[in-house]
Amino acid sequence: MTASRAIPEKLLEWYDRNARRLPWRVPPGGGAADPYRVWLSEVMLQQTTTAHAAPFFTAFIARWPTVEALAAAPEEDVMAAWAGLGYYSRARNLVACSRAVAKRGGFPETEEELRQLPGLGAYTAAAVAAIAFGKRAVVIDANVERVVARLFAIAEPLPRGKGAIRAAAERITPAERAGDFAQAMMDLGATICTPRDPRCLLCPVAAECEGRATGEPARFPVKAPKRTRPSRIGTAFWIEHDGAVWLVRRPAKGMLGGMRALPDDGWTARADGTGDAPLPGSWRAGGVVRHGFTHFDLELGVAIYAGDRWSELKGRGEWWPIREIDAAGLPTLFAKAARLALVG
Ligand code: ADE
Repeated sequence: MTASRAIPEKLLEWYDRNARRLPWRVPPGGGAADPYRVWLSEVMLQQTTTAHAAPFFTAFIARWPTVEALAAAPEEDVMAAWAGLGYYSRARNLVACSRAVAKRGGFPETEEELRQLPGLGAYTAAAVAAIAFGKRAVVIDANVERVVARLFAIAEPLPRGKGAIRAAAERITPAERAGDFAQAMMDLGATICTPRDPRCLLCPVAAECEGRATGEPARFPVKAPKRTRPSRIGTAFWIEHDGAVWLVRRPAKGMLGGMRALPDDGWTARADGTGDAPLPGSWRAGGVVRHGFTHFDLELGVAIYAGDRWSELKGRGEWWPIREIDAAGLPTLFAKAARLALVG
């Protein structure tokens, strides 16, 4: 048996016995997966761990059990339910996509047609085609990338090495059960072929693994040296009056677009905030929140208003009852800032 045939066979056999039980998953041999559940989970799982995504997935399915139900939901409700998952443009795309799918009467089955839906990228299209519709599609996420780089000892550094990784993944993807194969690769990456200290003794394809043969499997995938991430400084403002806090809605475009938030001083990925407060007068320091975004780190100081000139607040916003702050759908960054203000 050649290595490229042995790998899928052994992996699928391993998956049949060891597949992780996950709320969006149909166990091996359990029949067709619901494309809505597959799509929703795959969007949530981009950049988020299975453990973090699982409760959000369960809550979404309980509230919007079908793609038609999601399509009928007000965008604001979906954005608020997404709070805590990050990458909020995804929530907006989610709504747009669900509406397009409901309108055409269901999900299309091929990668090519799936790609034409709003916000649906190459990864998600491949995952849905393979997992929900049993099509042969090559599904590559970070776990799969690592497993493949090791199996074939691909020494070309990322991101340049992605081409070689895709070509190798293409060679080992089977015509049948491509969805199970993709999920087997993901599970292997998550539980055995882990970033540090891979557990090769438990690996079903250790005998085929060229990375293991080098004696240093954890060296793969090789990464180009990282550029340092910029750090930004900003301020969020906590203005409290009569048991309520002043919340604004962020502009639709840009970071955390469309989300409810505390007012801030205009920090961005490219620049520190101005420090300008929305009200004159006295403020006291309420602590600092440190938050990592994809391309930069933010140090967000929380300033608490100690004056009484609320009537001078300009621009749009709303007084939100503090005892219902959890229902405001604040993104994690501002939820952390609110927590600090409330203890400060
Ligand atoms: N990560 C992304 N998609 C996944 C899936 N379907 N199963 C497990 N982990 C995943």
